Amino acid sequence: MVPTESAPKQTFRMIAKTMVSLEEVLADELRALGAENVVPATRAVEFDGDMRLLYRANYSCRTALAILKPFAEFDANDDQELYDQVYKIRWEKILDVDCTFMIDSTTSGEVFTHSYYAALKTKDAIVDRFRRNFGKRPSIDTENPDYKFNLHIRDNHVTLLMNSSGDSLHKRGYRQGVGVAPINEVLAAGLLKLAGWDCSTNFYDPMCGSGTLLIEAAMMANSIPAQYYRGNRFGFMRWKEFNLGEWKSVKAEEDRKIGSLDFEGEIWGNDIDPQVIEQCEKNLEFTKLHHDVMLHIGSFEDQKPPEGKTLIVTNPPYGERIKVEDLNAMYEKLGDTFKNLYGADCQVWLITSDFEAMKHIGLHPSKKIPVQNGSLDCRFLKFELYEGSKKAKRQQDAEE
Ligand SMILES: C[S@@+](CC[C@H](N)C(=O)[O-])C[C@H]1O[C@@H](n2cnc3c(N)ncnc32)[C@H](O)[C@@H]1O
Repeated sequence: MVPTESAPKQTFRMIAKTMVSLEEVLADELRALGAENVVPATRAVEFDGDMRLLYRANYSCRTALAILKPFAEFDANDDQELYDQVYKIRWEKILDVDCTFMIDSTTSGEVFTHSYYAALKTKDAIVDRFRRNFGKRPSIDTENPDYKFNLHIRDNHVTLLMNSSGDSLHKRGYRQGVGVAPINEVLAAGLLKLAGWDCSTNFYDPMCGSGTLLIEAAMMANSIPAQYYRGNRFGFMRWKEFNLGEWKSVKAEEDRKIGSLDFEGEIWGNDIDPQVIEQCEKNLEFTKLHHDVMLHIGSFEDQKPPEGKTLIVTNPPYGERIKVEDLNAMYEKLGDTFKNLYGADCQVWLITSDFEAMKHIGLHPSKKIPVQNGSLDCRFLKFELYEGSKKAKRQQDAEE
């Protein structure tokens, strides 16, 4: 019989890793790409899909750090059992003997208390199996391995996963120059999504540094896939099951979305440091988004946002990597600028780890979302701006 339909795609469970408070945002992104049975977890989202979705999620998810594919699961009650179970896996079906690999591990519970040691046992089992069967073994490379594995152990339950992304997905490939304290690209995209950036207004970052928020906002406005500038650097490309034709077809489908939004707003950036603005220009030129973004040099209190409805998201100095003489005074000036220079058309969001300086803004945030910037515990704050006092606004709302 001649088959009339192509074979059904094989689906499997995957895990997308992300950052604190971005789980729901990533879950929405995955659903929009066709993921099924999407379940947000802690700094991760679990979902079902096929290899095409694995390629698509790597290429287009803005708030994922990595897409992991589980391939072995078992129970182990001590190091020897872990070694024996890992040894049994047919690693020669997964890896070439001439390749390099590394293992990232996380453990919780009482059974395995040292994640590094568990990773070492796992590595020993893999290389011993190769050595005994082939007289040769793959090497370890922690910098730039061909294969990255994740080992998760909760109590006595062990899961081994392939990291299909390779390098973290925050490495978008568009950074030509950076300021002292660039924000992580995945966090920047996540903040824009948390702030509700739907590309229907203007966007402004009054302290834009090397422009991460501007570039992520402009990429969204132009529907440019998150990894458009990364080149062919994904972990899955080393896999034995990698299908170049499927990958090219997924990439072409995602690239066809570019420009589909007809974005009509303005995207503006401002920074006091001319050198940082130069780096920002280089990044924008590399992405070919320099015609879409207007840059100004000066202090934030001297630059009005664009006319009309504008979303403002900014990442001011926290006094950690960028030293500011009087951070409290700077945050006070920021608050005054929000109140006096930005009108009711503006909605302002700001990320900071300096909870003391934050109090000097002099405005009450209407939302406070906990986020993590590197090792820093931060808050992402929303400020609603009204013409006149808040009381007058409430009165006006009541009358309408
Ligand atoms: C944390 S960095 C922003 C990093 C940026 N998000 C990026 O990804 O590169 C803070 C920026 O605020 C700028 N800055 C400090 N004081 C300023 C002021 N008064 N007006 C405008 N920008 C200022 C600094 O030059 C620095 O580039």
